[in-house]
Parts: sequence; C-alpha cells; structure tokens
Amino acid sequence: PRKIIIDTDPGQDDAAAILLAFGSREELDVLGITTVAGNVPLALTSRNARIVCELCNRRDVKVFAGADAPIKRKLVTAEHVHGKTGLDGPELPEPTMALQPGHAADFIIETLRSEPEGAVTLCTLGPLTNIALAFQKAPDIVGRVRELVMMGGGFFEGGNITPAAEFNIYVDPEAADVVFRSGVPIVMMPLDVTHQLLTRKDRVARIAAIGSAPAKAMVEMLEFFERFDIEKYGSDGGPLHDPTVVAYLLKPELFKGRECNVEIEITSELTVGMTVVDWWHVTDRKSNAKVMRDVDADGFFALLTERFARI
Ligand code: BDR
Ligand code: CA
Repeated sequence: PRKIIIDTDPGQDDAAAILLAFGSREELDVLGITTVAGNVPLALTSRNARIVCELCNRRDVKVFAGADAPIKRKLVTAEHVHGKTGLDGPELPEPTMALQPGHAADFIIETLRSEPEGAVTLCTLGPLTNIALAFQKAPDIVGRVRELVMMGGGFFEGGNITPAAEFNIYVDPEAADVVFRSGVPIVMMPLDVTHQLLTRKDRVARIAAIGSAPAKAMVEMLEFFERFDIEKYGSDGGPLHDPTVVAYLLKPELFKGRECNVEIEITSELTVGMTVVDWWHVTDRKSNAKVMRDVDADGFFALLTERFARI
C-alpha cells in the first residue's frame, strides 16, 4: 500500500477523510496523523484526531501534535462551521489513547528521511504550518516526498473565509507560500472542486444505511456540518472538502485539472491568503501544482460509502 501521512485539523470533513483512508487499508498505509491548529485550537484538533481513531478501532495509529499557531499570524478558527469542539454532532467518548511524544514536524522529517526516497505522500487537510516548519528545518526532505495532495485554495470559485481566500490557506498564508515555492510536487483540491460535493440527503442516507458505529457517527457529523451552508445559502447539503485528498489517491480518475503556476498572496490586506492560479497560462511562471477543477460527484460519494462500509 501507498504510505501516507495525514496532516489535519479535525473538523468533521477531516474526519470523513480519515475514515476514507481507514476504510482503504489495501491501498493506503497511514504512517501517522499529524495535527495542526486550524478549525479549532491544537488541543482540540489533537483530541479530535484521536477520537476518530478510536471510533474506528485504530488505536494503533500514531498521532502527533504539531503547531499551535501559524508561522507569523494570530490563529483564526472556524467554530461557526464546525462547532465548539470542532467535531460537534455525535456524542463520542473522550479519547484514551496517548499522543506520541515529539512535534509533528519532527515526525514528518524523520519519516521522510527513514522511508525510501519517493515513498511517502503528504495529505494535508488543514493550514500548512507543520509542513512549512518541516521543510524549513530540513530542506533535504522536500525532494523525498512522493507527492503532496492538499485541500486548499479556490480560484474561479473565490474564497470561503474572505472573498478572496479559502480557510486553510488564509489561516497560514506564509506556510502555504513556503510549500508552493518549495518545489514539492503538489496536487491541489480547491473550493472549485469541493463545492461540487454537497452532502445531499440521498447521499447521507446511503452512508446511514451502512449501520455501523463509525458510519452513524459520520452521519451525525455531516448533519451538523452541513447546517451552516444550508442555513446560510439554502444549498442542498454542505460541501465535503477534505475527503477529496484521499479520494484522489484511491481514484484519481474522478478528478480533472491542469498543471499550472500557483502563487500565494501574503502582503495585500484585502486579498491575503488568495491562491493566484495561472489557469490560462498567461504568465511564463513555472507550473508548481496540478490544480483540480472538476469532479465526478456521484463517483466520489459512491467511493466514500463503499469504503466507510469496510471499517
Ligand atoms: C477547509 O477548511 C476547513 O474548515 C475544512 O476542514 C477544510 O479543510 C475548507 O475551506
Ligand atoms: Ca480541514
């Protein structure tokens, strides 16, 4: 199986991504989960990651806590979407499994150095702080990464935390800038893709029909998470962002995109955190990312349901 590290700030949609990985043990070997401050502060994202592991009977998975704040800025959180704990919805027990000793960035560095070159894929579901810290501390690891698949950014679709910026990039734009300039092979799942993946009632009902404890908790998470978009925009469910990253590893043919140059706005107050995507290749700036724009939504939800049923 393909070796992955999941860097995350759970988050109900992060939890869905982790479940998708846990349901795909033949294809994916989760070497560790690293947590970062984002949707909620670090203590809660670290708690939530362990709750998700225990929900799936995966106490064997190593969870490392990482950065508790962005590189240069004050942390911005998203309780308005994810609730006070970040994982509101189901009633789940407090975790009993321990966090691993050491900082997430050091785990990332050590793993990339000890595994064969090109063996490890980084899956990022939150602000890029841990990854940027690791790349800055150990530039030798950049060339050892097989691929970094991220949920982040938005271009034609605009932003979801400011008119210009998507949340994960907005929280730590300096970290995103480090990552996009690093030369690591990037696959980017922006809002342009994730806004096509609404948790419609019929889709959630198919997950509920699985009947297992993880599926039931997932449904309760999704029903909490989607209320924000349903109430605010009258949409047909909430956009399921983070599982796109794992789905891409399992079935890349679900997604369509283009290699292009992406730069991160870090100076302008108005547009800070914007992903400036050269979709039409109007500059001669070198491509640094495969930017996705389209997805087979039914295929995506079918994959999710099939894999959740294997947990
Ligand atoms: C991203 O922000 C978070 O709220 C979600 O978990 C997702 O990673 C979407 O903008
Ligand atoms: Ca997330």
